[in-house]
Amino acid sequence: MATDTLTGPTMLGSTTKTRVFKNFIDGEWVESLSGDTFEDRNPADTREVVAIFQRSNKQDVDAAVDAAKRAFAKWRLVPAPRRAEIVFRAAEILMERKEDYARDMTREMGKVLKETRGDVQEAIDASYYNAGEGRRMFGPTVPSELPNKFAMAVRQPIGVCGMITPWNFPMAIPSWKLLPAIVCGNTCVIKPAQDTPLSTFNLVQALTDAGVPKGVINIVTGFGTEVGTPLTEHPTIRAISLTGSSAVGKIVGATAAQSFKHCSLELGGKNPMIVLDDANIELAIEGGLWGAFGTTGQRCTATSRIIVQKGVYGEFIEHFVARAKKLKIGNGLDETVEMGPAVNENQLKTDLSYIEIGKTEGANMVCGGNRLDKGDYQHGWFLEPTVFVDVDPKMRIAQEEIFGPVVSIIPCDDLESAIEIANNIEYGLSSALYTKDVNKAFAAVRDLEAGITYINAPTIGAEVHLPFGGTKATGNGHREGGIGALDFYTEWKAVYVDYSDKLQKAQIDRVE
Ligand code: UN1
Repeated sequence: MATDTLTGPTMLGSTTKTRVFKNFIDGEWVESLSGDTFEDRNPADTREVVAIFQRSNKQDVDAAVDAAKRAFAKWRLVPAPRRAEIVFRAAEILMERKEDYARDMTREMGKVLKETRGDVQEAIDASYYNAGEGRRMFGPTVPSELPNKFAMAVRQPIGVCGMITPWNFPMAIPSWKLLPAIVCGNTCVIKPAQDTPLSTFNLVQALTDAGVPKGVINIVTGFGTEVGTPLTEHPTIRAISLTGSSAVGKIVGATAAQSFKHCSLELGGKNPMIVLDDANIELAIEGGLWGAFGTTGQRCTATSRIIVQKGVYGEFIEHFVARAKKLKIGNGLDETVEMGPAVNENQLKTDLSYIEIGKTEGANMVCGGNRLDKGDYQHGWFLEPTVFVDVDPKMRIAQEEIFGPVVSIIPCDDLESAIEIANNIEYGLSSALYTKDVNKAFAAVRDLEAGITYINAPTIGAEVHLPFGGTKATGNGHREGGIGALDFYTEWKAVYVDYSDKLQKAQIDRVE
């Protein structure tokens, strides 16, 4: 990795080299014209500076977009199967580096090693999947209404694409965007979240080592208004893809519309998991714990509302809470730890403020609620897994996305009322139902207003070759993953080839 190093103190008092990353523009490592940098600190121990990154500005974005525009002229002409071969090689490289990249990720954003290995694996899966697309990218070939005329539709790249990615899946989500974009022949400028640029650099390093030419992928690090806004406004950028909050999505969508950019928004969630009386309760408890507290609740798909039928309500809560209390919290580099810290101080404050809101609203907090800041926890942003029961579905803790380890348990009478509670929400990303009744399962698949429904599994765990995205305030109708991504990163061109050697007028020269 072409970085400079600084010598600085470590948490153990010895000295170590802190990596200093520049922006990656046109295949070169370039300092920001702002002259400013920012630190990426370990949320489990904030004394550790994981790396230092450029605090970039509009001029840096302009330079990256210019580079991407120049690269597009050549990259779009490389046959798609050849482009895809490079992505296939990147998958192999990522496999070799999986452990190192997972450790970097745990250090920069806190989730436990098992999960960061999963995050790198998701990028590997996306690489293999999109590599295969290089030889497909199917388009329809159809009969013409006129004789001696050929009709088909082909996918064409759009041009320079801008990407704004979040910190919770710092390698997987950039891979969902970059890989289909480049296989389709586009070039990219990506702004990773300021909490997690390192994992994006690692992904792009693998792609560069695999042979992605200079200028095809450019990284500009920094903050939303300083980098994200100029990226979204830039007239040369033809498509912008954001994964983030619904509040930011509204702004990005409105800004992108000013220059008619393609715009893909993957936004918030408040994902319900329904548990019916006939469910395998042990399975539902295990799934609920994983869905609610995996990634410290910091997934768009996190299980944040558990709607339980009255017949099993008491039993579910008793065991769920007992198990939540036993979860081992700590530094994710420790293989025995089950839940890491919040990603940063602001997220911890948000979590704590929602805990106060829940108490004020009269919800019954039966577990957690406290920041952990003693002993081993004193230098990190740790919070206990928190469970509210007897929650009224209209309460703010049951309506608003918290993005932390705080779950609301809501009683319900039957499947119909459960679905009503599940749907009565601004968002529509993921949803889940635990039941052994196949009729109820299919009715829920039909009626839950969400982009994803799981039966007998929690709301997290999407696979890369299926559509990922949601309804209502969760997005604007696009899907990532699978062929949905191809639809976003290409424009259709209809092609007519007339080999009759005469003028044939569609709709007019009819052959009877
Ligand atoms: C997200 O939370 O933004 O389905 C993405 C899942 C993961 C991806 C989550 N594969 O939970």
